[in-house]
Amino acid sequence: MRGNMQTQIPALKGEITIPGDKSISHRAVMLGSLAKGTTEITHFLQGEDCLSTISCFQKLGIDIENDGDRILIHGKGLYGLSAPDQILDCGNSGTTTRLLAGILSGQSFSSTLTGDASICKRPMKRIIEPLMQMGARITSLNQNNCAPLSIEGGSLSGIHYHSPIASAQVKSAILLAGLYADAKTSVTEPYVSRNHSEIMLSYFGADVSAHKTTVSITPGSVLEARKVVVPGDISSAAYFIAAGLLVPGSELLLKNVGINPTRDGILKVAKAMGGDITMLNRTKDNGEETADLLIRSSALKGTLIGDSLIPTLIDEIPVIAIMAAFAEGTTIIKDAAELKVKESNRIQVMTDNLQAMGCEAEPTEDGMIIHGGKSLHGATIHSHKDHRIAMSFSVASLLAHGETNILDKDCVNISFPHFYEEFNRLTGRSFS
Ligand code: S3P
Repeated sequence: MRGNMQTQIPALKGEITIPGDKSISHRAVMLGSLAKGTTEITHFLQGEDCLSTISCFQKLGIDIENDGDRILIHGKGLYGLSAPDQILDCGNSGTTTRLLAGILSGQSFSSTLTGDASICKRPMKRIIEPLMQMGARITSLNQNNCAPLSIEGGSLSGIHYHSPIASAQVKSAILLAGLYADAKTSVTEPYVSRNHSEIMLSYFGADVSAHKTTVSITPGSVLEARKVVVPGDISSAAYFIAAGLLVPGSELLLKNVGINPTRDGILKVAKAMGGDITMLNRTKDNGEETADLLIRSSALKGTLIGDSLIPTLIDEIPVIAIMAAFAEGTTIIKDAAELKVKESNRIQVMTDNLQAMGCEAEPTEDGMIIHGGKSLHGATIHSHKDHRIAMSFSVASLLAHGETNILDKDCVNISFPHFYEEFNRLTGRSFS
């Protein structure tokens, strides 16, 4: 991707409908497959990760129709999956791998999960341990606690698991296995992570309860097909929030964005940095709150981000780091060691690329320190095929002097297939 610096940066004006939420799209396919009857999903995210989830459930014997925006899932109930005759390929998707491992732990057949080179390096011990405690037999085929994983499901026992990390993928894998356990299953985490699984499990009829940092599921309910309207993904909105705030004179309306309080950390941080964001048309669909977000350009200042805020903005930290680089003063991001085990090591990759643009950015053990406010220059950006890195530096390229070239830019298809079209439309650039 190439972006040519223009002396006067054109303001971003207009509206954008944000594509469907990735986390919610995955869960809708999974629960639709385990429910009895036909589940209809609209505004589904047609990104590569969610398509991997669809293809895995098709291999597990579920009939799924995808006409581009609307998905119909002909669910066969909790015990309706059939043994796959091939390896289940989760592509680049951690959510598919970990949540599906939870579901497969409860099946009476064996299966194998794998994914791309990045997935085969990401830590799976975090789900292998609790799922084995419940009674599943899981083998990491390369004996490195990563995928490929072979899973022999069976009769599971309810457990109370104290997770050392606040991870919705870990929590959700255990809750989904809990649908098949002989008794109640609970998960306690250090901080509350995104609660889309809990909301959607309840919506489909499961018996789920939450109290502070503990969530429990009691098996025995029948899941019933539902209509799911997927809200716009706040993680995808984040790039346009950042661009709208940073580019002088901008005024952007982001339509239909999910504002679930376990995901809205970027809004809190943007406001703490001085960002002008107004919420309009608040509404709720299938238990998830949405709103239109009006973004007006603002002079940003540095901030401190840590503790319980981190799980609510974990995927937005790359673009928050870009906001920090153009904000006055220092931003400290801490308690975010999880960034090292995302699609890339986002602490290293963000600080390396920011430094390449001339920003004073230091990696730390659990985050980064960014000294913002200096003028930055264009650079060659190594995305490491991480979609969030590519999109974050597209935003940075708007404000950097000179040309920016983002390597492996197509990785945006993981979560935001029409990103460059929308970005070009609103920024007046012609990235290709
Ligand atoms: C996700 C949870 C988060 C997030 C990921 C999607 C989910 O991962 O980073 O992109 O859909 O549950 P962790 O649960 O590992 O923090």
